[in-house]
Amino acid sequence: MNAIYLSGTGNSKHAATLLLNCLDPDGRAVPIESEDALAVLESEELIIAYPTQFSNIPYMVREFINKHGDSWKGKKVFLITTMGLFSGDGTGCAARLLRKYGAVITGGLQIKMPDSVCDCKALKKTAEQNNGIIKEADRRITEAAKLMKEGKYPQEGLSVFAHLAGLFGQRLWFYNKTTGYTDKLKIDTARCIGCGLCANNCPAQNLKIVDGKPVASDHCTMCYRCISKCPKQAITLLGKEVYEQASYERYANELS
Ligand SMILES: Cc1cc2nc3c(=O)[nH]c(=O)nc-3n(C[C@H](O)[C@H](O)[C@H](O)COP(=O)(O)O)c2cc1C
Repeated sequence: MNAIYLSGTGNSKHAATLLLNCLDPDGRAVPIESEDALAVLESEELIIAYPTQFSNIPYMVREFINKHGDSWKGKKVFLITTMGLFSGDGTGCAARLLRKYGAVITGGLQIKMPDSVCDCKALKKTAEQNNGIIKEADRRITEAAKLMKEGKYPQEGLSVFAHLAGLFGQRLWFYNKTTGYTDKLKIDTARCIGCGLCANNCPAQNLKIVDGKPVASDHCTMCYRCISKCPKQAITLLGKEVYEQASYERYANELS
């Protein structure tokens, strides 16, 4: 078994890696943007992990699934979505798409993790709260792995009820946010020191350094990685100001 993940701030990477380590320590967990993802795609059994975005799949994940449509026939796929608060059918969205290509969805897990939207004050939590959320996430993932080893695969987000919850809870009102990449990334060039971290880390190659400063194109998948890594907090997307940069590693290590 192998895993492919999209992860802006490290949550989905951690969830995929932990589950895979519990189930198959020899398996590989690779980022969706890497060349390795294509090699891993060949495996018969896969974990696919990504952050919930407006109760939907990030566009980059949707594009990856569609682009490699021929690869899914008969493949066993277990889906993990991580979320800040509410997912509805975060796993179900990918499950329905993958089934169209003939994939066999073995199950789904929807895991609450620290929120990655770091330019929205309302979503900010204390270090203690985030650390507690991570510990609970780890407990749930290891518990799920135990069940999966017994052949009992969790089915979170895959029911009709979850579908309705995702649809009416969020997706209907925010559907247009995830139907494509966005061009809404904002860079405060006066604050920017031209370090290039944003461009070097963007999974969608949406940023280029031109004359020493980053320039954003229209290919942002809203993962918040550049926003969370910028040393000058010069990048925003949904909000106007960065309140706290999100990072799984920092939340996990801060109080542990
Ligand atoms: C653009 C955007 C939309 C999001 N929408 C939701 C949502 O609908 N429900 C939710 O619970 N969390 C939502 N989140 C939070 C992320 O899903 C959550 O923090 C996730 O664990 C981030 O994972 P990552 O570090 O792997 O990118 C959203 C985050 C972003 C950036």
